[in-house]
Amino acid sequence: MRILGIETSCDETSAAVVEDGGLILSNVIASQSDLHSRFGGVVPEVASRRHVELILPTIDEALAKAKCTLETIDAIGVVNRPGLIGALLVGVAAAKSIAFATGLPIVPVHHIEAHIYANWLTFGQSAPDQNTLPELPAMCLVVSGGHSDLILMHGHGSYEIVARTRDDAAGELFDKCARAMGLGYPGGPIIDSLAKSGNPAAVKFPRAKLGETLDFSFSGLKTAVIRFVQSNNDERGSEDIAASMQQAVVDVLVGNTFAAVAATGAKSVLVAGGVAANSGLQAAMRHAGSSHGVPVTIPRPILCTDNAAMVASAAFYRMAKCESAGLDLDCIASEPIGPRR
Ligand code: KG4
Ligand code: ZN
Repeated sequence: MRILGIETSCDETSAAVVEDGGLILSNVIASQSDLHSRFGGVVPEVASRRHVELILPTIDEALAKAKCTLETIDAIGVVNRPGLIGALLVGVAAAKSIAFATGLPIVPVHHIEAHIYANWLTFGQSAPDQNTLPELPAMCLVVSGGHSDLILMHGHGSYEIVARTRDDAAGELFDKCARAMGLGYPGGPIIDSLAKSGNPAAVKFPRAKLGETLDFSFSGLKTAVIRFVQSNNDERGSEDIAASMQQAVVDVLVGNTFAAVAATGAKSVLVAGGVAANSGLQAAMRHAGSSHGVPVTIPRPILCTDNAAMVASAAFYRMAKCESAGLDLDCIASEPIGPRR
């Protein structure tokens, strides 16, 4: 089964064709980050307008790269929630138009669910081998510009929220700290590369622990980094600040993830979302996974940030349960992926 995926929930316009939920035939990502960098963050109205310009050429390119036409596509998967409402509307309107013209079914996909399914796409150039797919139940750490959640995935389409952030998302923290340090946008990749030549123990930044819950809070760390940068009396280099800030985030993310594994009996750990591309987080997750004897899966960096291949994969598993929507499909700005555990 070939699914055309469409993703426009934030500042990436993306379309992809994926076979049987795992084999990427094409994955075209038109990033708008250059457009938003001078504002230091995504401007929703600017993003919507750019999506309108990019969506049709992006879909055409994804079909051409996959050597497909709409006649050889079986369904359209589209992110309709959560996200910037004006941005979501562009992808959903495109999906509905194609469905109206061709009669193809539309499968609505939750953006966080799509990020998790990037872990079903890490199987190279052949169709996924059932024996190497992630073991369920899985503890999913989804860390992006808008989310920092620990989600227990019981099975396809079945999720419970174990923990979430009480304030900033991890990606937002990277972006805001980078802005305070006078670096560019998005801040995550810049801090990641600076941190490689810094000392992670140079500055002792706070690691928040919220009582008995595994919820995250990054606003204290953000304030500490901003204050440190403003009053940098000992003139630490930005490499040391980046490495110390990154280490503080990584310690909390890894610590809470494996505490959640212990509390729930999850059989594997799946990392997803833009911050999953962070090299420090990847190394620490793999290290903790081998010391706890729990398999850890992390998508390739290009599949960690927003893309439509992950949407097509999630839609494939939703299709398997005969879930599709009508032309009255709506967009939702905010909706949890499942109940709180
Ligand atoms: O998943 P994503 O593309 O969009 C959302 O759904 O939010 O995530 C974007 C976020 C940005 O905050 C960006 O700074 C962060 O992911 N990010 C990183 C890295 N690459 C992207 N954060 C830390 N290290 C990275 N290498
Ligand atoms: Zn995302």
